Amino acid sequence: MTVEHTLTSQERLADLDLDQLRQLVGLVEYDPEGDPFPVTGWDAVVWVVGNATQAALYYQLVWGMELVAYSGPETGNRDHHAYVLRSGATRFVLRGGVDPDSALHDHHRRHGDGIVDIALEVPDVDRCITHARAQGATVVEEPHDVTDEHGTVRLAAIAAYGETRHTLVDRSRYTGPYLPGFVARSSTVVRPAGSPKRLFQALDHVVGNVELGRMDEWVGFYNRVMGFTNMAEFVGDDIATEYSALMSKVVASGNHRVKFPLNEPAMGKKRSQIDEYLDFYRGPGAQHLALATNDILRTVDELRAKGVEFLATPDSYYTDPELRARIGEVRVPIEELRSRGILVDRDEDGYLLQIFTKPLGDRPTVFFELIERHGSLGFGKGNFQALFEAIEREQARRGNF
Ligand SMILES: [Fe+2]
Repeated sequence: MTVEHTLTSQERLADLDLDQLRQLVGLVEYDPEGDPFPVTGWDAVVWVVGNATQAALYYQLVWGMELVAYSGPETGNRDHHAYVLRSGATRFVLRGGVDPDSALHDHHRRHGDGIVDIALEVPDVDRCITHARAQGATVVEEPHDVTDEHGTVRLAAIAAYGETRHTLVDRSRYTGPYLPGFVARSSTVVRPAGSPKRLFQALDHVVGNVELGRMDEWVGFYNRVMGFTNMAEFVGDDIATEYSALMSKVVASGNHRVKFPLNEPAMGKKRSQIDEYLDFYRGPGAQHLALATNDILRTVDELRAKGVEFLATPDSYYTDPELRARIGEVRVPIEELRSRGILVDRDEDGYLLQIFTKPLGDRPTVFFELIERHGSLGFGKGNFQALFEAIEREQARRGNF
């Protein structure tokens, strides 16, 4: 097996190395030669939001992201604003309509704030598209070059679940701040002295919620079209309370940088959180982004101080002897986790610490997870039960349960 030495352009900019990425996001060695659809890593998470100008400030002020590029009326884009933000190797693009007739407003009317594009960096756009088309994928943008004074980017896009797409980006011949059409722009936010350089370093996984009975179809899509392999698998009773359940399977790119858990609702006595998402997003879409941090305690403290709300973890989670035994030894005393509501999961490879925010916007749809991995390549399967009970209490408070 060949050792893969490729860092994405964002990882290089963030001064991350392969050892750090192995720890942060569970990067593994793999041989891209035999991969019909080689993926280097994440390129960007592209959002449509109701007010990109304010959202850009929110992600800078609260989530400590850095503004790096911009497109809008001043740069010749009369349709919408687009702000490009970065934290470590993670890139967000926030788009919001300026022209009252912008199609972005129609998207927002239907879905609310959400993720429209999970863009991936690939070494060979044309090879990926040829394979994807042969496997029956819908090509929504044919391979093409876009060029400016910083060089050329090759792009194409395929349709994924709901109205989500995967843009494929080869930026190996490009040195600009994001894409042609964008200008470099830096933050006007003044960071208080002593604030951490960043609150998260990389994107770990993006979860998709799909319609009832269609999870296996989408797992098949990622297997066949994108050459992704199956990772941990959670099915049926594994993740269920007395009232609601979900089914979840995880697919990953060869190097495990890109990991897509896919959820579908399962039968329960009441509507599950997946049903609630599908109702309020008006269909399938990205449910949560897991942000990798190497210091989840500090990140949670910083975010709480800025008003971010996390799902409460039942106190019994930390006192239950069985759970306690499962947690075992972690890098900090359990009390430190308990006071912050941080969850622990353990498997044969190690453990992980994680916590989930409440929904980020007005609709009960997209939210964030913070994750600190210590060897475990899992997703917190053992925590789903405790988590589900906490989510259902929130759902009941909103009257949707
Ligand atoms: Fe997750």
